[in-house]
Parts: sequence; C-alpha cells; structure tokens
Amino acid sequence: MPIQTTSKIWHNGNLIPWEQATIHVMSHVVHYGSSVFEGIRCYSQPQGSAVFRLPEHMQRLLDSAKIYRMPLPYTLDELCAAVVDVIEANGVAPCYIRPIALRGYGEIGVSPKGSPMEVYIANFPWGKYMPGGDGADVCISSWNRLAPNTMPALAKAGANYMNSQLIRMEADCNGYAEGIALDVNGLVSEGSGENIFIVRNGVLYTPPLANSALSGITRDSVLTIARHLGLSVSEQAIHRKLLYIADEVFFSGTAAEVSPIRSIDRIVIADGKPGEITRRIADEFFAIANGLKPDRFGWLTPVKVNAQEPVTA
Ligand SMILES: Cc1ncc(COP(=O)(O)O)c(C=O)c1O
Repeated sequence: MPIQTTSKIWHNGNLIPWEQATIHVMSHVVHYGSSVFEGIRCYSQPQGSAVFRLPEHMQRLLDSAKIYRMPLPYTLDELCAAVVDVIEANGVAPCYIRPIALRGYGEIGVSPKGSPMEVYIANFPWGKYMPGGDGADVCISSWNRLAPNTMPALAKAGANYMNSQLIRMEADCNGYAEGIALDVNGLVSEGSGENIFIVRNGVLYTPPLANSALSGITRDSVLTIARHLGLSVSEQAIHRKLLYIADEVFFSGTAAEVSPIRSIDRIVIADGKPGEITRRIADEFFAIANGLKPDRFGWLTPVKVNAQEPVTA
C-alpha cells in the first residue's frame, strides 16, 4: 500500500512540512544502515483516539539506541509528547506512527563519529498488514534469524531488516503471505516482522528472546492478556516440527496485530480455522485497543483527534 502523506513530520523538536523531511544521500545511515526505529499504532476509540503502549515503544527506541551507542538528546517523556504532538498536528487517526533515529550527514567511513543523530517522527493512515483475516498461509524461511553476537536482535535497527527482507521476499516469491525464520540452531524464532505463538493441548507457547526474537510489545500484550484469561503460558524453545502439529498458530506485532496462521509449508494447522485461544486473545486485544473494554493494564495514551474510519488495505 503506498504511503498516504500527512502534513507535518516531527524533526529534532520541530514540526516541519512532510516534503521537507529529507536527508542527504551521503548520510551515514544510507551507507551503513545506522538507524533505530519504532512502529506504533493509534486506534479509534468511541470518545476519540489513543496510542497503544506509547511509553513501551519509545523506551524500546531508547534501548535500541543505547545498544548502538547512539546518543539521543530526548527523554522518554519528551519522545512520547512528540508523538502526541505530531498526531494532533496532522489530525490523522487511526494511524501508524514511525519514529526513527538515524545517523545523518557528517563524515564518510564506518565510524559514526562526526555523523549527527537526527530524530524524525511521522504518522500516516495504514490498514491491515497481514492478508487473510481468517488465517495466513506461511512458510518456514530458508533464511535464519540473526546469530547471537552478530547483530543485536533486541535492537530494532534498520540494518536488521535486510534479514527480514530476505525472509519476506522469499515468502512472496513462493506465494506465501509471510515467512517464519528459525534461529541459527534451527529453533523457531519469529516472522520477518512479527513474533510467533503456538497453542498445543491448551498451553500457549512462544520462543524466548534468546532465540533471536525481538522483544515485541504486542508479544508482551498477548502474554499479559493470556495470563489474565487464566491460560497456561510458557516461553520456551520451539522445534520446527511442533509448528506443524500445533492446535493453533498466530503472529503478533504492531503491524500484524494478532493474526491467525492457517497453514505452514502447505500443512494445514488443525482444521484451518482460527482457534479458540487465538480468538479469545485477539478479541481481548482489539477490545482494549479500540476502547470497547476498560484499559485495565494502562496501555492507552489518549490523543485529541476525532477518529476517522480505519483504513483497510
Ligand atoms: C522482527 C520483528 N519481530 C517482532 C515484531 C513485533 O514487535 P511489536 O509487537 O513491538 O510490533 C516486529 C515488529 O516490530 C518485528 O519487526
């Protein structure tokens, strides 16, 4: 889906016109992938709009920057306020929010010394990410996730998404909606842009972060909701073969939200329909995000924008 432009983008503390949010081709980030970023959703509510888990996302941005020794001259509160400001300035909600911190124009060479940090925050309408509302047909990727001590999988860095692109392009080429990557030891890791969950015999399983998975905010929301619903939850290593014989499999992510998986490598999961536990978790997730149930975990930051109809892809 092409990007739908809005009016303003937040840049280093100021709101600037969308068209002026450009960088030079010789910027460090263009050559060496030196950026960290976030993806956040703002949902429609009966009384307006609200950003989902804003402080957690901006804390992850700060953490990603810290891992990469990127000095960000903004506090968590300032970054959260900037997101609210740009959404309210554009008056666009529901929307997707893309904060990015990058190493800009200064010196050429791998060392980032001399390349200034730039922070931008854009927001724009964005609809459903994962095709197949009733379940996506996905594959196991021939590409592995990042090996430990090569690229830090816990940092949401632009460079990591070269690996994600390989996973996603291979899936596309072979007619699948998405790829599931294994880690370097052959254990299930995550999708190109989603965490993964399976249900077997009533227990909800997801790989631990040590299997090269991003510490997804939606992953944490799913775990919290599941525990609250009284479900048994286990973060443990998952073998590929368990995926095929699971009772339910679903992805979680800000873009993908909670998305059931219908088949993996053309092997149909159970009866091919979204399972009971997936449905209960998804219902609870969307009810909280859309303000139809109380925000009992304190996940919503209200913004003063009257919600429009959600965009559908
Ligand atoms: C590789 C990867 N894993 C997992 C996720 C899910 O994370 P979150 O739920 O915070 O969006 C994302 C999306 O940000 C991702 O890109």
